[in-house]
Amino acid sequence: MEKIVIRGGASLKGEVEASGAKNAVLPLMCVALLTSDEMTFHRVPALRDIRTTKQLLLQLGVRLDDFTPGTLRIKACEITDHTAPYELVKTMRASVLALGPLMAREGRADVSLPGGCAIGARPIDQHLKGLEAMGAEIQLDKGYVIARADRLRATDFTFDLKTVTGTENLIMAASLAKGTTVLRNCAVEPEVGELIHVLNRMGAAIEGAGTETLVIEGRDRLHGVVHEVMPDRIEVGSYLIAAAITGGDVTVTNSRPDHVSALLDKLQEVGLQVDVGEDSVRVRSNGPIAGRDVSTDPYPGFATDLQAQYMALMSLAQGTSVIRENVFENRFMHVQELVRMGADIRVSGRAATVRGVRSLSGAHVQATDLRASASLVLAGLAAEGSTHIHRVYHLDRGYDRLDEKLRNLGADVTREKDDIV
Ligand code: EPZ
Repeated sequence: MEKIVIRGGASLKGEVEASGAKNAVLPLMCVALLTSDEMTFHRVPALRDIRTTKQLLLQLGVRLDDFTPGTLRIKACEITDHTAPYELVKTMRASVLALGPLMAREGRADVSLPGGCAIGARPIDQHLKGLEAMGAEIQLDKGYVIARADRLRATDFTFDLKTVTGTENLIMAASLAKGTTVLRNCAVEPEVGELIHVLNRMGAAIEGAGTETLVIEGRDRLHGVVHEVMPDRIEVGSYLIAAAITGGDVTVTNSRPDHVSALLDKLQEVGLQVDVGEDSVRVRSNGPIAGRDVSTDPYPGFATDLQAQYMALMSLAQGTSVIRENVFENRFMHVQELVRMGADIRVSGRAATVRGVRSLSGAHVQATDLRASASLVLAGLAAEGSTHIHRVYHLDRGYDRLDEKLRNLGADVTREKDDIV
């Protein structure tokens, strides 16, 4: 096991380039199952979740070529297995994204139920309801979803709630289904738009990208494409908050400012200087940070994946802020660890009240989930003394070369062997 050790106090300065988006690559790796042609993706980040998905694709009989760093070639000539096993799905819920493509191309899939995780129950009832509406027979057996269909057929389906991977699964399923499918109340996250863009380049016929209603004309086959993955908006937001919390001046390049506009509005509101370029964002400290409330919502609202990072910033703000988590029912696992560093935070239901303190103190803390770990890194960057973040594998799921990128911005960060856990 490894840990990250941060000696706080440095103001981050300089430029950092955003990596490709984890939550775009994961569905795109599964969309490769929809064609027997080769798919080539560039700007693929080196993340644990990407490695897990490669394992899943190999398990299904897919051929991979990842010898060039940042480039991934996938060729699903034929699918020789139809199981997404528990040992893979339990480590990464997004494995469920194999369900739609397997049903569309093969008419069968045995996918382990993801089970809950640190941030909530995270059921997949919407994914299953949508596939049943498309004619799939779904059974649950020994913790697995057993899905069968002769050929998926078009449907007019309305999601009961906004679900990102639920929307992505059904878009992929409908792309090869017979007839014209209408999906309503869809998630409109940029990663969903990226998936639609790639599918249309593969020969799919999907209208309504960026809106909650999608019309999908099923095709008999799709062809391979070459695609450069969009920048990771959550990584971009995390580095911008790192600049804010350390009183620094950081420019994130190769990014999509329009994908983080809710965060940029909030950073300006709390008193930061924010400058937006065509594909870069610069955040500069501009005096004390004011406490300001935030509520997370599906896109284009404030991203739930940036809630923990924003809470770290509010821990050192002047005044009080209330942070409401409206997407997940248990996404405050970072609170106790921040409190151990001296933060003053009280949770009641889905709201956390943060009273800004003058300083945080470094401590030994434990990562619990990907974004909670990021908030502990940010707190450590600003804290007095050293912070040891244990179970750093949580961070490796979603941040490519985090310690290296932070060091390049002037942070005193090292990755060390962890003899505690
Ligand atoms: C995606 O997860 C992201 N993961 C998450 O990022 C992100 O936090 C989340 O969307 C919300 O933006 C990927 O894209 C791989 P949901 P997803 O389905 O699709 C409930 C990260 O840190 N729900 O949009 O799993 C669910 O319980 C990760 O990168 C149902 O009730 O999230 C949750 O409360 C964490 N039934 C809410 O909807 C369903 O069938 C939103 O979940 C599906 C979801």
